[in-house]
This record gives sequence, structure tokens and C-alpha cells, in this order.
Amino acid sequence: MKIELLLIVAFGAVTVAAQAADVTYRTDVQPLIKSHCADCHGDESPSLADFLQDQKKYKKEKQGPRLGTYAELIQLIGWPDAGALMRRLDDGTNTPDKKPGNMYKQLGSTDAERTTNLNLLKAWVGEEAWNLNHWTKVDEVPAISKGQLDKLKLNY
Ligand code: HEC
Repeated sequence: MKIELLLIVAFGAVTVAAQAADVTYRTDVQPLIKSHCADCHGDESPSLADFLQDQKKYKKEKQGPRLGTYAELIQLIGWPDAGALMRRLDDGTNTPDKKPGNMYKQLGSTDAERTTNLNLLKAWVGEEAWNLNHWTKVDEVPAISKGQLDKLKLNY
């Protein structure tokens, strides 16, 4: 009985690890972004550079930066907008005020769906690379470190 239980636990751990290792942009992330984010981050949306020039205007038009390609998406993780994806999608576990980021609700229509999709994105970014730091220090929040950047996975 004990051995059976151990085997079940061990198998479970291997399955979770294998899933995390297998998450790729093309298979998992691109379809998720397309189905949940493209209405406001699609081909019609501004590039991140244009968005950052005039955020107020785009906010009024309900347009976020374009996120349709791998290159466009990783700009909101590494550079120039380090941590933006994590800050907006975090469920409140890592935010200073413990409130979810304002795009968290877009991850799904139920708690279960949001949690599944958040976990998938965390596995893709890298469980240990999921942090909310900006490229430079902001108030009390330190700048993202080389050590944190090294932990990014972002498999294509
Ligand atoms: C209903 C429209 C809408 C949907 C759907 C939506 N967003 Fe947004 N998003 C916006 C708008 C508008 C902004 C800009 C205003 C703001 O900063 O909140 C924004 C901003 C962002 C930002 C910050 C960009 C930056 O450089 O500061 C990120 C990251 C983001 N969204 C990610 C996502 C992700 C990922 C999804 C899908 C899970 C998503 N959004 C779904 C409308 C949307």
C-alpha cells in the first residue's frame, strides 16, 4: 500500500515536471493569447513602442500593445517592458497589495480556467523567473537582476 502510494506521488511529480518542460510558445502560449487576448492585443493594436508613446490614448480606445508574435510577447517579459506580463497577470500571490493584476480576469471565465492558464504561462516563463520587477528600480522595488533573467525559459 505504501509503495503504491509512493508510486502514485512519484508519477504525479514526473507528470507535472514533464508538462512544465514541454510548454512551448507555438503549441501552448500562442493559442492561449489568440483566444483570450487578441480582441484588444491583436493585429490592429499598436506596437509596444507606439503604445508606450501614448498609453492614455490607447487605454481610451481599449487597445493594449500587439501581442500576436513571439517577439512582441517577450518584450513584455524581458526588455524593454520587463515584468509587465507578470505584473498584469499575477493572481495576487506576488503583488504588494495582494490584488490580482488587471489582466488576470482575462485568463478565463472561471477560477479554474484562470488558474490553469496562469500556471501554463508561469511554466512557460519559468516558475523561478516569475517576478514583478521592472527593468530599472521603481520606488522600493529593485530592478530585475541578471540572475532572474537567467531563469527565463520562454521556449519557442
Ligand atoms: C477587453 C480588452 C482586453 C483584453 C481581452 C486583454 N487586454 Fe491586456 N490590456 C488592455 C488595455 C486597454 C491595456 C492598456 C491599459 C492598461 O494598461 O491597463 C492592456 C494592457 C496590458 C498589458 C500591459 C502592457 C504594458 O506594456 O504596460 C499587458 C501585459 C496585458 N494587457 C496583457 C494581456 C493578456 C496576456 C491578455 C490575455 C490573457 C490580455 N491582456 C487581455 C485590454 C485588454
